[in-house]
Amino acid sequence: MNKKIAIIGAGNLGKAIAKGLLISNLISPNNLTLTRRKTDKLNSFSEKGVKVTSNNIEATKNSDILIVCVKPHKFEAIINEIRPELNNNHILISTVTGLDIKHIINITKKDIAIYRAMPNTAISIQESMTCISSNKLGENKIEIIKNVFDKLGKSVVIDDELMGAATVLSASGIAFALRYIRASMQAGIEIGFNSELAQLIASQTVKGASSLIISEGAHPESEVDKVTTPLGITITGLNKMEYNGFSSSIIQGVLNSYEKIKNISTK
Ligand SMILES: NC(=O)c1ccc[n+]([C@@H]2O[C@H](COP(=O)([O-])OP(=O)(O)OC[C@H]3O[C@@H](n4cnc5c(N)ncnc54)[C@H](OP(=O)(O)O)[C@@H]3O)[C@@H](O)[C@H]2O)c1
Repeated sequence: MNKKIAIIGAGNLGKAIAKGLLISNLISPNNLTLTRRKTDKLNSFSEKGVKVTSNNIEATKNSDILIVCVKPHKFEAIINEIRPELNNNHILISTVTGLDIKHIINITKKDIAIYRAMPNTAISIQESMTCISSNKLGENKIEIIKNVFDKLGKSVVIDDELMGAATVLSASGIAFALRYIRASMQAGIEIGFNSELAQLIASQTVKGASSLIISEGAHPESEVDKVTTPLGITITGLNKMEYNGFSSSIIQGVLNSYEKIKNISTK
C-alpha cells in the first residue's frame, strides 16, 4: 500500500495494529509512524525502522491515514492538537470506545472521511475481527479501509449504532474467550496435565472449535450434537456446566459490559 499511516497513541491496541500492519507487509516500516509520550516503550518498533515520536502534529503532517488509539477522555484533546494539520485528503480512523461517528464529527469539525474501527488484539497476528463504520464522506472509500482490515483478519461494515455491541462481542470478547481457555487449563491440571500441556490442549481445542464454525459455516449446536453421545461423558459435563450457569453467565457478562459502554466518560 502506498499510503503513509500514523498510529496516534500506540499503547496495547496501537502496537497490536502496528505489528499486524508490518507482518502483513501492508506497509513498509518507514511509511509507519507511531506516537505516544513514553516513546522508549516503542524501541522494538524504532529498531525495525518505524518512525517513533511524541509529536502528534508531525505525525499528522507526514501521514495519509491516522489511526487514533487513545483512551476516550484523551480523544478531544488529541484532535484539537492535530486539527490545524488535518486536510481533506486525510483519512481518520478512531478505535476509541464509546465515541460514535456523530460525536467524532462534532469534535473534528472537518469535512474529512471518518471511520470507526473496532478490532481486537489478535490484529497483531492478522486474526482480528474488526467492525467498521463511517461518516457519509467515508462511504465511498470504505472498501479501501475494509481491504486494510481484511488483511489483518476479518472485517465487516456495520451501522454505527452497532459499534457498542461490536466492542463487547469482539474487543472484549477476546478476553472472555481467553478466560474460558484459562478455566479449561485449570481443570486440565487438576485431571493430570502439566500447565504447558494443559495450555496447548485447551487453546488448540478452542482454535479447532472456531475453525469448524468458520470454515463449515455450521451452527455451534450442530457440532455439539456430534460430540454428545447419548449417556456419554461430554453431555454429563455440559449439563453440569449449564446447571452452574455457563451460558447464562456469558450472556449476563456481555450484557453488563454493553451497559457500561453507555457510561464511558469522554471528558
Ligand atoms: N485494547 C483493546 O483490545 C482495544 C480494542 C478495541 C478498542 N480499544 C480502544 O482503543 C483505545 C486504546 O486502547 P488501549 O487498550 O490500546 O489503551 P492504552 O494501552 O492505554 O493505549 C493508549 C496510549 O495512548 C498514549 N497516549 C496518551 N496520551 C497521548 C498523547 N497526548 N499523545 C500520544 N499518545 C498518547 C498512551 O501512551 P503514553 O502514556 O506513553 O503517552 C497509551 O499507551 C481505547 O479507546 C480503547 O477503548 C481497545
